[in-house]
Amino acid sequence: MKTANQNIKPVTTQINENGNIQIGGCDLVDLANQYGTPLYVFDEQTIRSMTNSYKEAFKSYPKMKMMFASKAFMTKAICKIMEQEGFGLDLCSGGEIYTANASGFDMSKTLFNGNNKSYDDLVLALEYGVGTISVDNFFELALLNDIAKSQDKVVRILLRITPGIECHTHEYIQTGHLDSKFGFDLMQLDEAITLIKDEYKNLNLIGLHAHIGSQIFENKVYYDEVEVIFKEIKRIKDKFGITLQEVNLGGGLGIKYTEEDKPISVYDIAETIIESIKINSKKYEIEEPTVFIEPGRSMVGTAGVTIYTAGSSKQVPNGRRYQAVDGGMSDNARPSLYQAVYTVEVANKPNETETEVVTIAGKHCESGDILAKDVNLPIIEEGDVICFYNTGAYGYSMSSNYNRVLKPAVVLVNNGKSDIIINRQTYEQLCESDVIPDRLK
Ligand code: LLP
Repeated sequence: MKTANQNIKPVTTQINENGNIQIGGCDLVDLANQYGTPLYVFDEQTIRSMTNSYKEAFKSYPKMKMMFASKAFMTKAICKIMEQEGFGLDLCSGGEIYTANASGFDMSKTLFNGNNKSYDDLVLALEYGVGTISVDNFFELALLNDIAKSQDKVVRILLRITPGIECHTHEYIQTGHLDSKFGFDLMQLDEAITLIKDEYKNLNLIGLHAHIGSQIFENKVYYDEVEVIFKEIKRIKDKFGITLQEVNLGGGLGIKYTEEDKPISVYDIAETIIESIKINSKKYEIEEPTVFIEPGRSMVGTAGVTIYTAGSSKQVPNGRRYQAVDGGMSDNARPSLYQAVYTVEVANKPNETETEVVTIAGKHCESGDILAKDVNLPIIEEGDVICFYNTGAYGYSMSSNYNRVLKPAVVLVNNGKSDIIINRQTYEQLCESDVIPDRLK
């Protein structure tokens, strides 16, 4: 069965009676007029269609638990949706912990991961009752044990491992060891477990955690990931007599940015993961564990679009035509950072047949600030509303104030209603943290 991550557009996308693109029953041109641009628009039905697909696809394995990797898009309203859908949250910074807690989220359903958690991050995690901490390295083991001891607490931990599977979008390699900044190499695992067993009495080791990559388009990596982890669980049981009951497989399912992308469905990965769990728990004679997954991009990527207003344009003599918009690399860093390619449409001209090849440029003082290169679009005029699909994941979350450009607003749309979930930043907020020392006054 197809799932929404295999679409380029949000599930509610239509051309309405005004001849404009509408999402969640809201005309994108009206949204641009009402809220201003640039504007991120999130379709609630697409988000919920993904949460439902994950729940449906994994329901034959009752010990499956789902978490949303909030790094993809984090704000209080998203925490509420995830809570309603029965998802936990995968958090990776003090700021994400703070936001989840501020939204009223049940913190026992959260996991904290990251390769350099600070003393303050860990204190905050314990203070707010984060459910599980995925410990990344030896330094953190000692630090967390000290903090837990000083608070007279025993903390549930996973050990983050690098399972020797490296996944690029269309291919992957399996090696003994990986050159990665994250997690324990499999060769370091025994030393970590010995320390936990003999010295770190305030840490309760309950399982293993891995994340093999992002924007993954194939099944087999997940099959192999489960196998590598289950093999370790068996080895740990035999060597230390410790039975690990939880496995976290990370996220990674890909989405369709352009027609060339062919992501698999949630049902495809669910089938593979469940099959691998069944086969490998028999093979390694271990009880079927509780298994977590923590998808980010596939949960919110397709649901979100960014709309801009077309401004100036430039025709290079005998060269490219550049059309500038009122945002750029500060609201979408992915084209300049990863050469990411997006599908673009003109929201007020979706049916126009006369087209030209144009390059959509951002407004930042940098030649590399190009949002889409050489795309075929209707002839764009000043004031047209340009829509970039698939900006829901790692769009707002990687946005910046480069050139002191304000962060855009975010609206959530559903059934013809739109609600602000993040206000547009103001110039006052921009200068809020600035301080002029007395001697400069
Ligand atoms: N779990 C862990 C431990 C992770 O590091 C990540 C993503 C996820 C889950 C979620 O993975 P997803 O389902 O979103 O693929 N900024 C990049 C993506 C970085 C992903 C980092 N880790 C981008 O814009 O493509």
